[in-house]
Amino acid sequence: MIQNSNIINRFKEILSQKGPHSDDFNEIIRIVDELSTDDEIEKFRDMLEPVLKPDTIIGHSYTKPLGYSGDYLIIEKMYRFHKNTHPNYVKWDEFFHWLPAASAVINRKKLAVSLLKKLNQNTKKEYPRVLILGSGPATEVNEYLESVTDNKLHFELVDFDQRAIEYATEKNQKYMEHITFHNKNVLRFSPDGCFDLIWSAGLFDYFQDKLFVRLLRRFSYYLSDNGEMIIGNFNISNPSKKIMEVLGDWYLYHRSQELLTNFAMEAGINKENIEIFSEPLGINLFLKIKKS
Ligand SMILES: C[S@@+](CC[C@H](N)C(=O)[O-])C[C@H]1O[C@@H](n2cnc3c(N)ncnc32)[C@H](O)[C@@H]1O
Repeated sequence: MIQNSNIINRFKEILSQKGPHSDDFNEIIRIVDELSTDDEIEKFRDMLEPVLKPDTIIGHSYTKPLGYSGDYLIIEKMYRFHKNTHPNYVKWDEFFHWLPAASAVINRKKLAVSLLKKLNQNTKKEYPRVLILGSGPATEVNEYLESVTDNKLHFELVDFDQRAIEYATEKNQKYMEHITFHNKNVLRFSPDGCFDLIWSAGLFDYFQDKLFVRLLRRFSYYLSDNGEMIIGNFNISNPSKKIMEVLGDWYLYHRSQELLTNFAMEAGINKENIEIFSEPLGINLFLKIKKS
């Protein structure tokens, strides 16, 4: 495909106009979706080398300046609709924010904020506890705490990247009495006691099936009576999967509703305590488990 001189000329044109206009976005997706071999993908990446650098969000994903995919910085850039104002990069950041997967990530944060508000409103407990696995920038916690005047929730946030913890601490400086951070790998984290809500988004999609089930089983022990665990995972129908992989070198385990349900049953959860829902675009699924 990439040998096709029309496509090469088209991308030369897009680069010479310093990135895609909004009219070009769908065409880029179409071309990327048609790439099939590793060789074609490499040639395509070579062609876009001028933008696959940390200066653009997609280049941040591709070059991984913090050493791994999905770091707290790229997520925060998505939440803040960050755009590099340099004329060579701004259009590429606009393209990134236009991707349905980027909107789904914003949607899942909104969903988390609304769940936290609901828990705070409905709980009868004096000291309700929330555990967040892979907490990153803790933006949902911050937005929630900014939006309520009667917070009762106490948060335990786990992230293996000390830089994420430092960023989240700074961001939530006003609210530190409500937050305990744990700089730990979730694989080796043992909570002290039980939680009313265990939330994790943008983490389990990096775990292989066996590990997913193992962690599900382990953390389900830490649910209080009537507690809920909600785990996010990208849906197999994610329309931005290929572009994330090709341009962002960002590979996730995409999963179906059925597979997530099966994982929960394998982890020993009764079927009646399992529910799957999604954010409005249906791109991020959520596996919800109730304490049996
Ligand atoms: C994609 S971000 C999601 C952040 C946050 N949950 C959100 O939705 O905004 C994933 C976060 O999980 C952290 N992380 C990845 N693997 C981890 C592990 N095994 N244990 C703890 N944290 C991990 C990363 O450092 C990063 O901050």
